[in-house]
Amino acid sequence: MTRSLIASDYFEILERAMELRDLPKKDIVRGFCRIYAGVIKKSYQSQYKGADAAINSFISKDDGKVKIVWGNCLSQLKKMTSESIHLMVTSPPYYNARDYSQWKNIDDYLADMEDIIKESYRVLDNHRAWVFNVGDISGNDHRDTKSSWGSRRIPLSAYFINIFEKSGFKFIDDYIWDKGEVESQRHKNGDTPYPLYQYPMNCYEHIMVFYKHRRDETLYPCPVCGCLKVNGNAYSGVNIRSWECKNMKCFERSAANRGKRFSMRSMTMDGLKTDDNRIEKEFVKSWRRDIIKINPVIKINSKGENKLGHTAPFPRAIPEFAVKTLSGVGDIVLDPFAGSFTTAIEAVKLNRIGVGIELNKKMFKSAILNNIKNHVLKVSEQDTIK
Ligand SMILES: C[S@@+](CC[C@H](N)C(=O)[O-])C[C@H]1O[C@@H](n2cnc3c(N)ncnc32)[C@H](O)[C@@H]1O
Repeated sequence: MTRSLIASDYFEILERAMELRDLPKKDIVRGFCRIYAGVIKKSYQSQYKGADAAINSFISKDDGKVKIVWGNCLSQLKKMTSESIHLMVTSPPYYNARDYSQWKNIDDYLADMEDIIKESYRVLDNHRAWVFNVGDISGNDHRDTKSSWGSRRIPLSAYFINIFEKSGFKFIDDYIWDKGEVESQRHKNGDTPYPLYQYPMNCYEHIMVFYKHRRDETLYPCPVCGCLKVNGNAYSGVNIRSWECKNMKCFERSAANRGKRFSMRSMTMDGLKTDDNRIEKEFVKSWRRDIIKINPVIKINSKGENKLGHTAPFPRAIPEFAVKTLSGVGDIVLDPFAGSFTTAIEAVKLNRIGVGIELNKKMFKSAILNNIKNHVLKVSEQDTIK
């Protein structure tokens, strides 16, 4: 969607740009482009009328505390400002695999997930990512029968790719999480050594990456000279509008005398190239292959008790990977199915703002608060949106 600026927007840009006048030339241009893009974004955000000031100021406060939002993520997402979240990381309920969430059949479950994913598309910032961990469970989809005759592998990942793409996201990558030897017998491995009796044990999950590229035809200034004399230069990807600077006096022109070519996506990526966002070489290397071995979280201690208080936490390696490789310091990272808040805790540890939404307050509250305290990151109850 294109957003044209109105007179008051120009006044705001000029007024704020005046504060840059004593800076070096390069910083003036960078600052001007940031102010300009910020005003366009604010004007785009103002088109959504459902935003709630209380929750938005709560989740954007960078105070080093994990942010807990109790409630249904669909209704909480509806209160959030458009394009205000920089990264989403989650592992949803795997249909009826656990007691905390149950649906009548797979179609009801997928319909609920679709509503949430569509709303998330509005809330996630443009050219940003959602890391989505899900397993292809074994169970009954309850479409035809409730009996064990309906049991099979349910390819949740495939269903989710379809929903994400219908909702506007682009499917980018899929890491296969090799879980090694699993805790439970997730699939019938037939003891009868004859054909048609054999099923594998389920030892993997998906860690899928989706991007949002909302088509935006708004004119942005050249990031090198700040000039608005730019022409459309085709698309550098699906829905990614690219521009070319037409200012002949621009500080940077190619050998063939072409102007700087840029897009909002390239500017977003350049903005993240700072010293504090640099990723350790060893870490990049450890995620180089798209099959990755990570031990699942051990929940049950020697006495048979669940020491974590949650039945389906994911390993911290997943949000660590997502946060380090797909967000920058100071960004807001949201997990709409927070569970034990692994994502939010990891985000805060990495100097981002970590936010989680969790429905089952009754079931998980004490375990969650305990878990967060163990990570030395306190949540103040009065900060908690009820
Ligand atoms: C697979 S668990 C997430 C585990 C989490 N990644 C962790 O490390 O603990 C899914 C969580 O989503 C919560 N949930 C289910 N439906 C929800 C909804 N509509 N809104 C918010 N949370 C929901 C469940 O209570 C459960 O805690």
